[in-house]
Amino acid sequence: MNNISHLISLLGGTGSVAEKLKIKPSAVSNWRKLNKIPKNKISAILSISSQLKINAEDYLPRKNLNNFNVKILLIICGGIASYKSLEIIRLMKKTNIDLEVVITKSAQQFITPLLVTSLIEKKCYTDLFSVENESKMNHIMLARKPDFILVAPATANIMAKLANGIADDLASTILLASFSQIILAPSMNPVMWSNLATQENYQKLLGRGIEFIEPDVGEMACGESGTGRFPEPKIIFEKIVSNINKRKNTTDQFKDVSIIITAGPTIENIDPVRFISNRSSGKQGFAIASEFSKRGARVTLISGPVNIPFPKCANIIQVTTAKEMFEETMSQLPADILICSAAVADWKLVPESSSKKKINNENKIKKTKQELLFKTIKNPDILATVAKSNLRPSIVVGFSAETNNVIKNAKSKLVSKEIDLIVANDVGENKVFGDDFNKVFIIDENNCEEWSEQSKKSVASNLADRINKIFINSYI
Ligand code: C5P
Repeated sequence: MNNISHLISLLGGTGSVAEKLKIKPSAVSNWRKLNKIPKNKISAILSISSQLKINAEDYLPRKNLNNFNVKILLIICGGIASYKSLEIIRLMKKTNIDLEVVITKSAQQFITPLLVTSLIEKKCYTDLFSVENESKMNHIMLARKPDFILVAPATANIMAKLANGIADDLASTILLASFSQIILAPSMNPVMWSNLATQENYQKLLGRGIEFIEPDVGEMACGESGTGRFPEPKIIFEKIVSNINKRKNTTDQFKDVSIIITAGPTIENIDPVRFISNRSSGKQGFAIASEFSKRGARVTLISGPVNIPFPKCANIIQVTTAKEMFEETMSQLPADILICSAAVADWKLVPESSSKKKINNENKIKKTKQELLFKTIKNPDILATVAKSNLRPSIVVGFSAETNNVIKNAKSKLVSKEIDLIVANDVGENKVFGDDFNKVFIIDENNCEEWSEQSKKSVASNLADRINKIFINSYI
């Protein structure tokens, strides 16, 4: 049996692979015969393989794996480890990665632009103002072009600048102006690494979804020991490759899948000036919308009033009240997946006088000597209504924010609302709302998983993986 044939057998055989890829079985038979998988199907094969925990890379020709087709910007900061980044460049040059390099002023104390230029066989960038003079490149273009920005070694200085939004040179300006996935590989003296300032910056950056390749523990060039050593260039390169593969495998994961996501709070007006609402920031829902969009889904984000920037997604609908959110959600059906992360106000308030007479609230209600009372009117439960409707999406996911009995309450919502998955968290003492981190339990009919505290972006990515598993199972 040849390599490809072996791989296809491991993936369940010709019929199963054809079905998963929605192609004819005869095409897969041909691959087996020719011992070759067409380039445009490699990422789908890698994706199925990783779901089945099979290492497809063992069976695919090396040239397919070196065909990364990504753009990377490497920023080299100044430190004793700067020279090690030349080895990262050498490893990347063996592939078809489209590489640009920026060297900070202090890195030039350790390596020269000429050395880097001769390695990458093109200009490397050093200065904010000279880059502006280049006709074909400016710092915004350098920031926007790459899929990934790798900062290696990343100094305490660049971490501090990025955490605080300082843009005083080319590297820090690019980092601030970029939408790309940023990966930092810090390297510094152990005391600098463990300094509270660096650790606070590290936490801040993690919370914003910036990835880290953690420094190693060991003896440093300065003679001191501890955490702060630059990891081996090969390890950094491998981490980048695994990031690229993950991105490749997930780019089309939800292609042609329609997802409705509700996010943020709703607001219920009392009169034209006053309202009731809650502390939801919309950050978790927006991170989910952004993650599914990156994975190819057609995302409709229905958001209550928030103070954060909207993510890139196909369709954004802004609402104020629970009733509007309900109507907009219903109008977007049918859809394949519904994720209700919004903190919907459970009631609207109707002001009444102490003699229980309805008060006219078209204009601002005037203070009188009488007490003001409120009648509560229940808002529609969007999640439960859609889950129990004829137009129920094949996967319905809810959120459960609780201050006590988190798991018990979430489980009872899962059952009463007839949904597939619930993401539960403890919001007591103002935890979670507005924060960049989240600590959640993922509960389905049979299991309750406790996820460690992580950034909301990371929760979104893990949730997308989890939903993908349910999605695949629903087709098997
Ligand atoms: O019942 P409870 O409000 O605790 O349920 C929370 C879940 O239900 C969340 O997923 C929330 O988005 C959804 N929900 C809804 N419509 C409501 C109330 C809650 O979709 N009116």
